[in-house]
Amino acid sequence: MRAGPVYDRIGTTYANTRRPDPRIAERVAAALGDVRTVVNVGAGTGSYEPPTTVLAIEPSATMIGQRPRGAAPAVRAAAESLPLADGAVDAAMALLTIHHWTDLNTGIAELRRITRRRIVVLTWDQSVFQRFWLLADYLPEAAAFDEARAVPMERLAARLGGARVEPLPVPADCVDGFLAAWWRRPEAYLDPTVRAGISLLAQVGEAAIRPGLDRLAADLASGRWHERHADLLTRDGFDAGYRLLVADR
Ligand SMILES: C[S@@+](CC[C@H](N)C(=O)[O-])C[C@H]1O[C@@H](n2cnc3c(N)ncnc32)[C@H](O)[C@@H]1O
Repeated sequence: MRAGPVYDRIGTTYANTRRPDPRIAERVAAALGDVRTVVNVGAGTGSYEPPTTVLAIEPSATMIGQRPRGAAPAVRAAAESLPLADGAVDAAMALLTIHHWTDLNTGIAELRRITRRRIVVLTWDQSVFQRFWLLADYLPEAAAFDEARAVPMERLAARLGGARVEPLPVPADCVDGFLAAWWRRPEAYLDPTVRAGISLLAQVGEAAIRPGLDRLAADLASGRWHERHADLLTRDGFDAGYRLLVADR
């Protein structure tokens, strides 16, 4: 196993498929509210950073290297040890990152230490997520991997000192290619470029998911997938289990 941040290995093409979705950006901005200074922790390539972002925290140089010109300055550091003073900023956001942290409790304590007003976390509720057709019907190995790292919503909210939990439905044409983004575009999962932008699939590995992908390809070719999921084809949004947690300090 190669040493160093995981995203130095799996994040080389992240910006190809992981662009911020405007509808999700609106929800994140609304969750942050009228705060004046924001730190983005596990910032990756900078998706969803509002103009009030003063600093991005990101352990992977590969991800920092894909941040757009003009984005907030980025520091190579981890959530578990934030290089900021107590109460340094109004708000912190941590989007689709906490499942990668080596020590969640320490990371959350750090978010609380550096913020004066608000913390916004985007993650998923595994009890809903595990029912998503890709995991439930085709990739049980990937579902098991997620099961091991998912944090129950109540536990996370408690760690944050209490939080509002808001469902975040995924638009049918979501432009941020995270795992369930392609719920109404099943062919996308057969595309290696799409899969490379989904950390779960990259981490579980091609060998483990290949039988499931072959079954999906067969079901798409035979029309079985479309028969089984006819209800999805007329929908504009889908609750796959993504949740915004909004904690006031
Ligand atoms: C799926 S990406 C999300 C990036 C960005 N927040 C977004 O929404 O596009 C997860 C990010 O978390 C970062 N990460 C992994 N471990 C971390 C840690 N311990 N502290 C902070 N960030 C971490 C990864 O390097 C990666 O850039």
